[in-house]
Amino acid sequence: MADSWTFAVARDDRARTTLVDSPMPAVADGEALLRVDRVGLTANNVTYAVLGEAMRYWEFFPPEPRGLDRQWGLPPLWGFAEVIASTVAGVEAGQRVYGYLPPAGHLVVRPDRVDASGFRDASGHRADLPSPYNAYRSTSGDPAHRAEQEDLLILFRPLFFTSFMLADQIIDNDHYGAQSLVLSSASSKTAYAAACELHGRGPRLIGLTSPGNLAFTRSLGCYDTVLTYDDISALDPVPTVYLDLAGAPATRRALRDHLGDRLVRDIAVGLTQQTPNADAAGQVFFAPVQMRKRSRDWGRDGLDERFTAAWQRFVPVLNKWLAVQVGNGPEALRHAWLDVLAGRTPPRVGHVVQL
Ligand SMILES: NC(=O)c1ccc[n+]([C@@H]2O[C@H](COP(=O)([O-])OP(=O)(O)OC[C@H]3O[C@@H](n4cnc5c(N)ncnc54)[C@H](OP(=O)(O)O)[C@@H]3O)[C@@H](O)[C@H]2O)c1
Repeated sequence: MADSWTFAVARDDRARTTLVDSPMPAVADGEALLRVDRVGLTANNVTYAVLGEAMRYWEFFPPEPRGLDRQWGLPPLWGFAEVIASTVAGVEAGQRVYGYLPPAGHLVVRPDRVDASGFRDASGHRADLPSPYNAYRSTSGDPAHRAEQEDLLILFRPLFFTSFMLADQIIDNDHYGAQSLVLSSASSKTAYAAACELHGRGPRLIGLTSPGNLAFTRSLGCYDTVLTYDDISALDPVPTVYLDLAGAPATRRALRDHLGDRLVRDIAVGLTQQTPNADAAGQVFFAPVQMRKRSRDWGRDGLDERFTAAWQRFVPVLNKWLAVQVGNGPEALRHAWLDVLAGRTPPRVGHVVQL
């Protein structure tokens, strides 16, 4: 009898999904078994699938051991899991961890660098993938963890960390000399959290969004101006940095036409519209890069402290802007995936699934 399950999406058509029973994975010496407990779904998870090959996101959770062939990919999710079996000292059954998880019932990890804050998965297939994705944080050793804020951490931790690092990089570079920062997909969690961090730091913050999300984005109050994608000609022709979270070629074209050489930087941060934009932008923001820089500058504890302080400042505002919608079980996960993929999720909603 199958004791576990796996959800996967077709790599060539992300709207084609499968949900299969899988055998309970066996745990070898040096390994631990996690039960995936509660996860979130936002456009960021869809981006992992869009960039599954290019950025190797498909490699974190290979389909083959779960009885699926390579036409399928397991889009990584963020959330909490519980250790249910372990052969590793310091990793104990009952321990709750936060980290990068498969859309599946269970995950086998090979804990390494175990300490009070958690461990890293040293499984061979993850060894040369970006290391921040291999860390599992124990709730008991995590200064940012509050039991009553778990859903906020599920949805926002990686996004807010990106926003925090993105804002830090821009400030660290004196805003690249810009007087305006323009963010697309301004209604997205990553964009508005970055805008919160950058608000009042000098440059004007301008959000671009779709007409249906204009009122929500204006209501946030973290942008000085919010315009729709069709209103780019209303932008002041001043030195501008474009932080692209939408990835829409037409928006980039319109900005370049309107601003010319006053567009001093064009940085790809995300691609909610599911068209890769790294080449077109010319510069890509990848949070782990600035994270490594700040880990060197501030030490890991210094970075943790600053992140936790920023997070605790953000949570009270976030409570006004976010409606967490909780689903139950793998079918709810599939529904949430299809909803987010199709852009049907209103920006106020955050999907969390209890598995
Ligand atoms: N570089 C990094 O290290 C990094 C880290 C974290 C996140 N990101 C990226 O930032 C982006 C935002 O992620 P998020 O999780 O914060 O997003 P989110 O909150 O789920 O974003 C929702 C917004 O994205 C737009 N959108 C969503 N689905 C769409 C669709 N199917 N078609 C067109 N527009 C759609 C809409 O905004 P508008 O109407 O305002 O356009 C929508 O309100 C993602 O691409 C993510 O990968 C990058």
